[in-house]
Amino acid sequence: MADKQKYKQSEGAGNRGRGRRIEKPQNAGKTLLRILSYLKHYKARLIIAAVCMVVTALATVGGTYFLKPALNDYIVPLIGQQNPDLSGFIRMLCIMAAFYLTGAAANFILQRMMITITNGTLRRIRIEMFTHMQDMPLRYFDSRTHGSIMSTYTNDTDTLREMIAQSVPQMINSVITVVSVFVMMLVLSWQMTIIVILWIVVMFLLLRLITGNSAKFFIRQQKELSVTNGYVEEMIEGAKVIKVFNHEPAVKKEFNELSGDLFHAASSANTFANILFPIMGNISYIVYAILAVVGAVLAIHGITDIGTIGAFLQYSRNFSQPITQMSQQVNSVMTALAGAERIFRLLDEPKEVDEGKVTLVRANISPDGTIMETPERTGRWAWKIPETDGSFRYEELRGDVRFKDVTFAYDPEKTVLHDISLYAKPGQKIAFVGSTGAGKTTITNLINRFYDVQEGEITYDGLNVKDIKKDDLRRSLGMVLQDTHLFTGTVEENIRYGRLDATHEDVVHAAKLANADFFIRHLPQGYGTVLTADGANLSQGQRQLLAIARAAVADPPVLILDEATSSIDTRTEALIEKGMDSLMQGRTVFVIAHRLSTVRNSNAIMVLEKGNIIERGDHNSLLEQKGRYYQLYTGMFELS
Ligand SMILES: Nc1ncnc2c1ncn2[C@@H]1O[C@H](COP(=O)(O)OP(=O)(O)OP(=O)(O)O)[C@@H](O)[C@H]1O
Ligand SMILES: [Mg+2]
Repeated sequence: MADKQKYKQSEGAGNRGRGRRIEKPQNAGKTLLRILSYLKHYKARLIIAAVCMVVTALATVGGTYFLKPALNDYIVPLIGQQNPDLSGFIRMLCIMAAFYLTGAAANFILQRMMITITNGTLRRIRIEMFTHMQDMPLRYFDSRTHGSIMSTYTNDTDTLREMIAQSVPQMINSVITVVSVFVMMLVLSWQMTIIVILWIVVMFLLLRLITGNSAKFFIRQQKELSVTNGYVEEMIEGAKVIKVFNHEPAVKKEFNELSGDLFHAASSANTFANILFPIMGNISYIVYAILAVVGAVLAIHGITDIGTIGAFLQYSRNFSQPITQMSQQVNSVMTALAGAERIFRLLDEPKEVDEGKVTLVRANISPDGTIMETPERTGRWAWKIPETDGSFRYEELRGDVRFKDVTFAYDPEKTVLHDISLYAKPGQKIAFVGSTGAGKTTITNLINRFYDVQEGEITYDGLNVKDIKKDDLRRSLGMVLQDTHLFTGTVEENIRYGRLDATHEDVVHAAKLANADFFIRHLPQGYGTVLTADGANLSQGQRQLLAIARAAVADPPVLILDEATSSIDTRTEALIEKGMDSLMQGRTVFVIAHRLSTVRNSNAIMVLEKGNIIERGDHNSLLEQKGRYYQLYTGMFELS
């Protein structure tokens, strides 16, 4: 039974959670300015919104003032009259209604403006984040949980939306209201204003005392929430494994405990939010009563009048409300700024560096070897190499790949590849074999520059791969990755992912080559069958066949197959190999395989061990050496 504490301590769980955290932004001013730079696209709307904000606040404050003449001139004189003439009073009410209606109309326009401003800004930010993410190096995704990247898209954008749409406008409204109400109160009665100010000071100190303590309950609640959410997320991902090992009872128990902790934390936090704040509201009626009494005393002494008291009492309520709300708004703005900082941090992540200048173009190659660039599909390609004088030189793409003393490490402390040297001549088939973790996939990651070598160099047709534009380099390499990924869409679309302008015939041809055609035709809608998340409705082997077809449709000069046939039964594999032989014709191919039968007919086989090539040669010569390959092949050495 796993210890629940580990979920609370593990950074991963905390990050993956969807819970809100109350955090302090590191540089609030700078972040705020950066958010403002997004708002500048909505200048006109912002101006209208600002005007509406002022109108809304002032209309409400102004309308209330008419309570005074309404009471003094039209109610008090009528008290005790037989047939009171209410027309004046009704006129006053109409004026007040006009004020409040103006406020409501302005508020309506304000909200409409804010909807466009907020959603438009968020759309911009989301697109920017996603666009930037596409240009980021693979290392970024390898080095953090996907949950934490996701939460930037969900949590952080949501708090930002709340801030732009609600907290900031409310704060501005509060400030305008507080200032104008204060002025009106002074105008009405400075004596009663002093009482209100005293009350506010007492309330403020009291709130400080309470919220100062309650903050820690809120923080605990957010933390427990994110731990619980992280746990659920992890258990959804691990649903299969849980069932395999019958861990359901243990998982249920663990979740029970975690949600118990959340219950306690949330209860303490809610004690403050749901009980104390309303009670504060109730207590404030005491000051209301005090004001009424003081007002009455003042009125009796002729210092003030009934209308003033009526209007003042109303103002006193308008005054304290925004002040109590303000601390909440500041909190939510702070949380949003911290979230915005995470968004901007993602946007500031360095992009994948691509200093490559050499591009790949379609070519017409005449018998005498002259290369002409052409937009047509000729089946031939050439590297377009810029010269120092601004002209271009063309070099035919042949598929000659060489490693010269390549050393590489994902983390500086742990070297994964040591001094690897090898060459693949055009059209050769090079195989990598070796135990798990030996560095086979890593070698292919370097050819297409998912990662860059630290020492030594990799050349492609004599060009350093660093000089080739990444897009063009990858276009020339067909890859079947060790972990196949299929996208939501039809089978045909998934195969066409390899080359977007492929016709239906091209797709079917590629599928036949990969021997996928047969099973595809047996799917309910054939090539039109929609695949669900990552091809969950296919078998592992079928997914691999689709991945091979996808590489085949791209028709690349160099092919990299990482364990492409590992999940396919031996009979199908033999069939694919036949198809693959024609696919491999005239191409340089790198194959990685645990199953040695697949690599037997390679021109050269590299045996890797702990990042070193310990043996190399063709099948027969390696068998003659009676070394590790011989052991692997004859089953004397188990692949772990
Ligand atoms: N993204 C990464 N970050 C850090 N280390 C990594 C990363 N990918 C692989 N490694 C490490 O590099 C070493 C070689 O991994 P690699 O994936 O190349 O092995 P492999 O030979 O392909 O193994 P397998 O046969 O299991 O696919 C391993 O020790 C692994 O822990
Ligand atoms: Mg691998």
